[in-house]
Amino acid sequence: MTFKNFVQIFLISGWVALLFGCGDNAGERVTPSPPPEATPAPEASSPSVPKKYAVTAKTRETYQWYCTQCHGQKGKGDGVNARLLTVPPRDHTKASYLETRTDKQLFDAIQLGGLAVGRAPCMPSWGNTLDEEMIHSLVGYIRELCECEAF
Ligand code: HEC
Repeated sequence: MTFKNFVQIFLISGWVALLFGCGDNAGERVTPSPPPEATPAPEASSPSVPKKYAVTAKTRETYQWYCTQCHGQKGKGDGVNARLLTVPPRDHTKASYLETRTDKQLFDAIQLGGLAVGRAPCMPSWGNTLDEEMIHSLVGYIRELCECEAF
């Protein structure tokens, strides 16, 4: 990604976050129409992510520490914060959805946040918290949870 693209995404993210927000609209919980289940992956993007990264105890610990409050301890999308979000966290065990996403898309969602891959800003970006190797191995862990690969 060029710097210009990054700036564009950054600016767009800000606006979309402002427009849609992400918090708990207590009382009147407006359920936004769910995101489209399958967006075809851009063909060119997959090869840049190496296929396999080891999933270690550290990966699982990282997931438990940073991801479970939304995605749930077993990745089922049922973490304690899930009901407070206007868009439900993804169920990482749902193969029928995750098969439609490339490893690159999952990587980008984790590193840059939901907006970077056309998903909700409620999925935060972790690029400042987790290094690339850890993000790759989290993608591997999600592939374990769904017991699936990208088509
Ligand atoms: C604040 C709550 C929250 C936390 C914490 C969180 N997520 Fe998410 N995540 C979401 C939401 C909400 C979505 C669904 C976005 C959508 O479908 O539009 C999502 C979606 C995803 C997706 C799917 C993106 C796609 O292509 O549809 C992946 C992968 C993901 N999260 C990984 C992680 C990982 C790994 C962590 C921990 C490092 C994490 N998330 C932490 C809320 C969270």
